[in-house]
Amino acid sequence: MILSVIILAAGQGTRMNSDIPKVFHEVGNYPMIYHVLDISQKLKAKSTTVVISNQLKNYKTFLLSKYQHIKFCYQHNQLGTAHAVLEAFKNYEIKETDTTLVLYGDTPSVTFKTLNAALRDFDKKNLDLSVISMIVKDLNNSYGRLLIKKGKLNKIIEKTEQTNEEKKIQLCNSGIMIIKTKHLFKKIKKIKNKNKKKEFYLTDLVEIFIKENYKVSNFNCKLGESMGVNDKEDLAKLEKQFQEDMRKKFLKKGVTLIDPSSVYFSKDTKIGKDVVIYPNVYFGPGVKVGDKVTIKSFCDIELTKIGNGSVIGPFARLRGDTVIDNNAKIGNFVEVKKSKINHDVKISHLSYIGDSVIEKNTNIGAGTITCNFDGFNKNKTYIGENCFIGSNTSLIAPIKIKKNSVIGAGTVVDKNVQEGSVVYRKSKLIKKDKT
Ligand code: UD1
Ligand code: CA
Repeated sequence: MILSVIILAAGQGTRMNSDIPKVFHEVGNYPMIYHVLDISQKLKAKSTTVVISNQLKNYKTFLLSKYQHIKFCYQHNQLGTAHAVLEAFKNYEIKETDTTLVLYGDTPSVTFKTLNAALRDFDKKNLDLSVISMIVKDLNNSYGRLLIKKGKLNKIIEKTEQTNEEKKIQLCNSGIMIIKTKHLFKKIKKIKNKNKKKEFYLTDLVEIFIKENYKVSNFNCKLGESMGVNDKEDLAKLEKQFQEDMRKKFLKKGVTLIDPSSVYFSKDTKIGKDVVIYPNVYFGPGVKVGDKVTIKSFCDIELTKIGNGSVIGPFARLRGDTVIDNNAKIGNFVEVKKSKINHDVKISHLSYIGDSVIEKNTNIGAGTITCNFDGFNKNKTYIGENCFIGSNTSLIAPIKIKKNSVIGAGTVVDKNVQEGSVVYRKSKLIKKDKT
């Protein structure tokens, strides 16, 4: 099979009520269009065409930097899904393929496994058109309905055209279609816009193919995989489903989630073995957790690598390219930003560590703050190994504290400190007796 993939992403997305193009809204902190493009990459298609609107022009270079395998076609006026597919044919590569898979940029949960099975089914049965369908029990939805006559798919009826009886049909269209390329190219021009929305519906192709005696069928998949996003409510539903799938995945992998429903992941979250995650933890993008790590409640973590055996939280915030090495301890109310924390470092309570490097075995006392911002620039802090930083210390960056040094509690340090120093500010304690 020589495959081409067409991804429709030109829709206005007006129902999202947002300035951000619909397909750039995120599920699992990852744009919907990326979810779809990742799958298309796995399918190893001969050509992948993304149909975009003028509104998406500015996102083009952005998409190309991540996905070099795609070609773009413009749909200047959004006249419907069939019109969008016709625009895709401006990429001549499609005509050199025998099978075309149409995916929607707003249907990001479909899996490689399902698409692969549907493509194999299409091939085996020598079909001309296959619709990926799903059963939707909640009838209050805007999906197209599949009309089955004598056990065979006969027609797809769009929301605007459905009678009250047709609205009761549970077999719905996911939007994903597999079609023999040569038939698609010939027959798509037959689609008319004689419907209430005056749009050219790709789904009308089913009826046209049936009339031409082509082999048409449908391939069922799980609803969780085929939900489309039209508004923010749909997006929230999809996010919920995504989070449930991620929790199941990690539980299966042996991660302990004490209260799974209160832990949130990103698409790229990676977690090692024998990790324990307490309730209410949020993983933003770019988090990699090693083995035997414990993450206590109420942590917010993004763009951070956590080494084996470390203990994080409760109430820790880790962000901005941070690396926590093995067996480190980041305790309660500690924020770490863009820093490298080496192994066996302890930052147990109430600290801000930003733009810093802390070498191994150093202990950071409660209330230590790296004063990294002088109002203009972000400055760096370096703390060598085996240091002891007393409680309530302010380190005015840029600053270097060399190894084996001790800083007394409550010190404002604004000069570099040599190896093995003891540093404190002498200020007299005034004590007056009550008269
Ligand atoms: C579509 C299907 C419907 C199906 C549902 C599944 C049609 C006519 N209807 O309806 O049967 O149940 O998806 O989610 O296909 N797009 C373009 N250009 C356009 C119009 C749309 O590129 O002119 C793109 C959109 O960006 C989107 C996709 O096509 O990614 C689907 O369009 P949308 O308007 O959301 O269709 P639905 O009403 O959801
Ligand atoms: Ca849709």
